Amino acid sequence: MAIDPASPVPKYLQLRDLLLDWIVETGLSVDDPVPSERELGARYDLSRMTVRQTIDLLCSEGKLYRVPGKGTFVARPKIEMSLALASFTQDMLARGYRPGARDLIRRIIPASGHIARMMDIPPGSPVHHIERLRTADDEPMAVERSNIPVSIAPNLDSYSLSGRSLYQILEQEFGILLDSGEQTIEAGICDAADARLLGLPHGSPVLSMQRRSFGKGACVELAISTYRADRYQLHSRLDPRQ
Ligand code: GLP
Repeated sequence: MAIDPASPVPKYLQLRDLLLDWIVETGLSVDDPVPSERELGARYDLSRMTVRQTIDLLCSEGKLYRVPGKGTFVARPKIEMSLALASFTQDMLARGYRPGARDLIRRIIPASGHIARMMDIPPGSPVHHIERLRTADDEPMAVERSNIPVSIAPNLDSYSLSGRSLYQILEQEFGILLDSGEQTIEAGICDAADARLLGLPHGSPVLSMQRRSFGKGACVELAISTYRADRYQLHSRLDPRQ
């Protein structure tokens, strides 16, 4: 296939699709190099600027990545974020990754008015506030900030969460089974603190996630999390409207 100069589709977008097809057809895999901008320009008879625009786009889409002075390479496919009431541990294991967690903050705090309203608990009531850096195969993936009423899991703070799933502890130690939940996910920009934790440049795109999970009608967890947008994508099955 070649670039069609008469097409209404801009050349850099045509090149994007050609390159993606070419990567599949030639069987390139993760970390394999793609041809240089100069080679691509010559191959498709395009200016260096157009080729750069395409490569920039593919890098921002997470399909390619650049190593200064070395070239451009095929990136790992993004992880599909499950839209189910699953734990991070379950999600990662299901996708073949080794889940991990590093405690950043664990303390009991009085629920602010805002948090209390969202959790339907009296303002000021104590909640376990847990901030964790979540990893997959040791790579930072997300910063998760959970709030759990002390009334439903009184001595949760005495359980170590490193190498253990929070949902599993809630179930096994406190008999709490999550039976429903709701989640909002929106595009965001990484602040300086999360960027440092996630090893991203400040201002990188992220997915901001807010989840409320319930057990027997009571809010068990309010979690506000930051997921790397360069490693995650949302996927859902679409069923016809009933
Ligand atoms: C998901 C949810 C979090 C929850 C976590 C529990 O990532 N977004 O709200 O805290 O799972 O994961 P785990 O049981 O692995 O600690």
